[in-house]
Amino acid sequence: MPTYKYKLVSTQIAQLLKNAQTEISQVETLAALDDIRVKYLGKNGFLTQELKALGSLSPDERPVQGQIINQGKAEILSWLNARRQILQEVSLKAKLSAEAVDITLPGRLSHRGGRHPITQTIERICELFSQLGFAQVEGPEVEDDYHNFEALNFPKDHPARAMHDTFYFDSGLLLRTHTSSVQIRYMEAEKPPYRILVPGRVYRCDSDMTHTPMFHQVEGLLVDKGIRFTDLMGHLEAFLTMFFDPLKVDIRFRPSYFPFTEPSTEVDIRIGDGDWLEVLGAGMVHPEVFKFVDVDSEKYTGYAFGMGVERLAMLRHGVTDLRTFFENDLRFLNFFN
Ligand code: DAH
Repeated sequence: MPTYKYKLVSTQIAQLLKNAQTEISQVETLAALDDIRVKYLGKNGFLTQELKALGSLSPDERPVQGQIINQGKAEILSWLNARRQILQEVSLKAKLSAEAVDITLPGRLSHRGGRHPITQTIERICELFSQLGFAQVEGPEVEDDYHNFEALNFPKDHPARAMHDTFYFDSGLLLRTHTSSVQIRYMEAEKPPYRILVPGRVYRCDSDMTHTPMFHQVEGLLVDKGIRFTDLMGHLEAFLTMFFDPLKVDIRFRPSYFPFTEPSTEVDIRIGDGDWLEVLGAGMVHPEVFKFVDVDSEKYTGYAFGMGVERLAMLRHGVTDLRTFFENDLRFLNFFN
């Protein structure tokens, strides 16, 4: 009986639909929702099986039953889609709230580093002299007597040695007391002409407001044919004027003595109406020094100078206690950055 049969089959479909609807409405995850899709509409799903079974029906039953099954499939698909949309929204909301950023929270403080004022001062000095063609070189801080004193024309027992308050090692080596030692090392290794600037640490056994056991110097050396004392004066005056800019400085050259230069001078500056202050030592390279490094002093002449970096930094920035450069108090250091 065809009518009976339709009814039977469509009742079965109706039951399947009802089950599917219940399951779909209760499912909580997208993965489980997909399982339901496979269970009903997949290759071996319930409704797919019903479609396969159409073949066993009579030709006039087939289209009716086919339509019922296809309507059922469409129905289930629309439920699946509706549920999928809901679940997707729920999972998106969960994700968003898990990743939520509270923009009202106070920001995290990040500290930016800066260069130490001594480093900045060395860079400024080197930058200015590089405009005159001076190349930057370095030498060892642990030195021997020969490079620190002897080849710089400090004979043994020379009183100038005593002024250096040298730190000695048991081996007889020492911590260099000035960067002038690098003049010797450089001239030993290279042929003239020379145009070098030597920044570095130096050590003396001394400590008070204006002295620390370690401090920094920059040494300069210019040797070529026909270099005169006026070259020294002109270069140093140009340097000091630019270094202290925009402060206005007066500059004076005062006769002095260093074993490794002849003649020798100390250079003083005066900022505004202040006192005269010594800022560097300089002079024409002594022929005895040239002898030690095998440079012909008949052919070449040159000048050398040495300056204290801390001293220049103090004057430029109005710092009164040298030791503050080495205490690393951030309130002090931040002032320079
Ligand atoms: N080396 C000297 C010092 O430490 C400074 C100095 C003076 C360097 C005269 C020089 C110079 O090159 O010509 O006190």
